Amino acid sequence: MARTPLLMGNWKMYKTVAEARSFAESLGQQSAALVDGVEYAICAPYTSLHVLRVMLPANVKVGAQNVYPQKEGAYTGEIAPGMLAEFGTRFVLAGHSERRMLFNESDQMVNHKVRAIAEAGMIPVLCVGENSSQKQDGITKEVVTGQVQQGLDGLSQEQVAQAVIAYEPVWAIGSGKTATPEDAQYVASEIRALVADLFGAEAAASVRILYGGSVKPDNIASFVREADIDGALVGGASLEPSSFVEMAQALK
Ligand code: G3H
Repeated sequence: MARTPLLMGNWKMYKTVAEARSFAESLGQQSAALVDGVEYAICAPYTSLHVLRVMLPANVKVGAQNVYPQKEGAYTGEIAPGMLAEFGTRFVLAGHSERRMLFNESDQMVNHKVRAIAEAGMIPVLCVGENSSQKQDGITKEVVTGQVQQGLDGLSQEQVAQAVIAYEPVWAIGSGKTATPEDAQYVASEIRALVADLFGAEAAASVRILYGGSVKPDNIASFVREADIDGALVGGASLEPSSFVEMAQALK
């Protein structure tokens, strides 16, 4: 089954609304360079989601970086899935390593978020990856498949088929180091095999798997040409419209 490639930016805690508006204007002026046949998305701080939803070119979707897995209630400071879905948020990240590390998010909490995102009709982007000591210990496959199994628990086959899994080695995030395309492909193939075991061949053939970790315009193609890697989740290099466009061009 053909999977649509996905180029997804994660702005983390960068950009004011004014800066997001300027990014959207600039990307709009270069929208002809966003090659067809690829899906694009920007996961922005909550404060910039609305302006991006209104101003980004139609083929660039909006994503959130977090959500709280309750419909509503006394959860001061949190945002509910329905609040994001209401105005057209398509993707929501869950389990990014920065949230796992800095905010102590457990696999159980990540799973609650993944389920809540899917139930609200949005697409969960389940982020998984080993840290450097786990890599040195040779347990990358066990760590990653464990995170995937727990993260997707309770989803239907159809929800998994729609979902996105981002493999991001923690040691590669923001470090300038990347996995080799061969190593990333190996992990992606193990993820897809696990999804086939748990949710069936159809879900495994449809679920999109991204690589993330120091992806740049000059290395993105080497990952996306691998059989089980369907795109990239990009932090730093997604902040400038010019490099976002360069990455899009590299997917031709
Ligand atoms: O979500 C994105 C990842 O954390 C990768 O960030 O491209 O700046 O290494 P990076």
